[in-house]
Amino acid sequence: MESSFIVANLKSFLTLDNANEWLNTFKNSFKNNKNLKIIICPPFTLLSFFKKFIDENNLEVSLGAQDISPFGQGPYTGEINGIQIKDFADYVLIGHSERRINFKEDEQLLTQKTEQALANGLKPIFLVQDSQAKIPNRVNIVVYEPIFAIGSGSPDSPKNANSIAIELKKRGAFDVLYGGSVNSANVKDYTSESDLEGVVVGGASLEAEEFSKIIQNA
Ligand code: PGA
Repeated sequence: MESSFIVANLKSFLTLDNANEWLNTFKNSFKNNKNLKIIICPPFTLLSFFKKFIDENNLEVSLGAQDISPFGQGPYTGEINGIQIKDFADYVLIGHSERRINFKEDEQLLTQKTEQALANGLKPIFLVQDSQAKIPNRVNIVVYEPIFAIGSGSPDSPKNANSIAIELKKRGAFDVLYGGSVNSANVKDYTSESDLEGVVVGGASLEAEEFSKIIQNA
């Protein structure tokens, strides 16, 4: 394993004011002495603000978007496409259960989104809820996020997450991350597992200090 991924999924939270506070707190508490790959996924409205702050402060952090249009540039009102995202980010989350459930995103749409990401030089972070879900071609990073564990405070056990990772790796040469109720107290249990290459953090990443602590404890 080269290095572990620690991904913050900020979901549909934070305004400009909150983001400024988050970033300043993060800057003052962030230490990455384990060569971890840190990826922060803010909402679209804040991508440019995060990028400017990260560049100006030379933070060793990458950015990801939380979604991508299944189309390229064109008359698709409201959509943000891969070329636009590439101005700010290197990664994109695709297949989160919150999008599959609330926005009826199906396998065909998720494949189209993955193709758009890849065509524009973005690395898809593809989320699945079990070991059998379809994973589009040329995806390298897969996240196992069981629905019961998301935002519930009841994470899946590190052992079970690791065995799902082993199952997933039989299907392709993926880095596999775990997501679902990860925090600074339990992160090490996941990053210590042999077949998990990192974690995705939702709720606990909304507190910048706690997110720094997760990075410290990973
Ligand atoms: P959670 O969310 O950490 O709040 O459980 C994880 C995710 O949905 O990516």
